[in-house]
Amino acid sequence: MSEQEIRVPDLGGADEVEVIEILVSAGDSVAEEDPILTVETDKASVELPSPSAGKIVKIIVKVGDKIKEGDVVGMLSSDGASSDGASDDASDDASDNNSAPEPEPKAKDDAPAKSDDSARKPAAASDNKAKPADTGSVTYEAPAAGSKVHAGPAVRKLARELGADLARVKGSGPKSRIIKDDVHGYVKDQLQQAQQGAVVPGTGSSGIPGVKLPDFSQFGEVEREGMSRMMSVTALNMHRSWLNVPHVTQFEDADISDMEDFRKSLKPLGEKKGVKMTPLPFMLKACAAALAELPQFNVALDMDRKEVVHKKYIHIGIAVDTPYGLMVPVIRNVDQKGLWELAAESAELAQKARDKKLKPAEMQGACFTITSLGGIGGTAFTPIVNTPEVAILGVSKAAMKPVWDGKAFQPRLMLPLSLSYDHRAVNGADAARFTSALARLMGDIRTLLL
Ligand code: COA
Repeated sequence: MSEQEIRVPDLGGADEVEVIEILVSAGDSVAEEDPILTVETDKASVELPSPSAGKIVKIIVKVGDKIKEGDVVGMLSSDGASSDGASDDASDDASDNNSAPEPEPKAKDDAPAKSDDSARKPAAASDNKAKPADTGSVTYEAPAAGSKVHAGPAVRKLARELGADLARVKGSGPKSRIIKDDVHGYVKDQLQQAQQGAVVPGTGSSGIPGVKLPDFSQFGEVEREGMSRMMSVTALNMHRSWLNVPHVTQFEDADISDMEDFRKSLKPLGEKKGVKMTPLPFMLKACAAALAELPQFNVALDMDRKEVVHKKYIHIGIAVDTPYGLMVPVIRNVDQKGLWELAAESAELAQKARDKKLKPAEMQGACFTITSLGGIGGTAFTPIVNTPEVAILGVSKAAMKPVWDGKAFQPRLMLPLSLSYDHRAVNGADAARFTSALARLMGDIRTLLL
């Protein structure tokens, strides 16, 4: 019998994650890869697997703790077969941990928050040192300089995500402890002030007038509900993109009559394979080909360094509608995959998104995004670019339309495409070239092979 540490594996780029559920207890037998803990990242909950088969000796973290890659979360006894020769050292380390069962991040819990701890986003929120002069209602006043910040790990995580400087948030919990509602309230207040133009000039705020909410209850019954974290993070991201990226949308109709005939002909084969071939894999292939043809769409802008980052890979995000909000899993190397592989992978990722099972790494690295509302309806829309990508393709519902062939109107199945792009990176002519390329590629899918 030997003991080995259970360590947090690669979290796919997430810095720290919060333990939201402990799935085993001391004495439980587990198989290799059995889930031990559930942790929550920005957009998904992820199960951490057991490194090998054995018996749980102990779990040394608890719900609410923040952990990061490499942290020890517990001990596992195995029958000596499998701890890559490190088991002795591992158990020594573990006994050190026994004396200090609190995981490392916990120790920082009551340390004063550094003002540079926060991401300083939006700029107006954290840079707003001077109290705005004429707004009347400053709900959240900065506590006295140097005062200690009392907040738990989950609240600190939320504050970091929302870019809130905890030193400026007034706590309403016991002994002025800051709770999540205080952070939400602070951010809301800062946003409202920024929208009302109540910001220090030169802070980079949009300074646009805000929308004042009336008392809706005067018009009828209302109920208020706190926003979920995903909703508030998405709202901030959308707002950031909308304000930072000069958007233009280019429209095009692609004639997909032949593509649809071909897709439908694949149905029996799809049934055999257990894979549903929707129009999405064709769009992925067409976008990958258009990105290769017009690489000015496969870039990011680094405005600080005045550089254009050219990407040599083609990873495409697909917007997935889930009960929790919009998620964008990413399909890697789309240019190197076939239609069946793309159909299976997109269905699997969409299902994982709906089950909240996406890993952080599965939502990162996209060069471009497709948001398809075609299964739902609509004739066109203007999607918001998922910055730092520079373009996004919105797809609406295909419809039969009369198309003039030079002699007569022909009934053709037309797919409406809406390409929104960052006009700093892409010019209008290239956008028209991109949508024309998509229409050409989807109009005759044989050209996808060229
Ligand atoms: N026009 C007409 N029909 C379409 C279509 C289009 N553009 N796109 C898909 N369909 C059809 C499909 O063929 C399928 O029909 P069938 O069952 O008769 O074959 C049906 O609509 C449903 O397709 P769906 O299950 O949605 O698969 P998909 O591969 O087309 O899309 C997702 C997968 C993940 C993109 C989709 O489910 C989704 O979540 N879309 C919403 C994205 C969103 O919310 N974006 C908003 C961002 S602001």
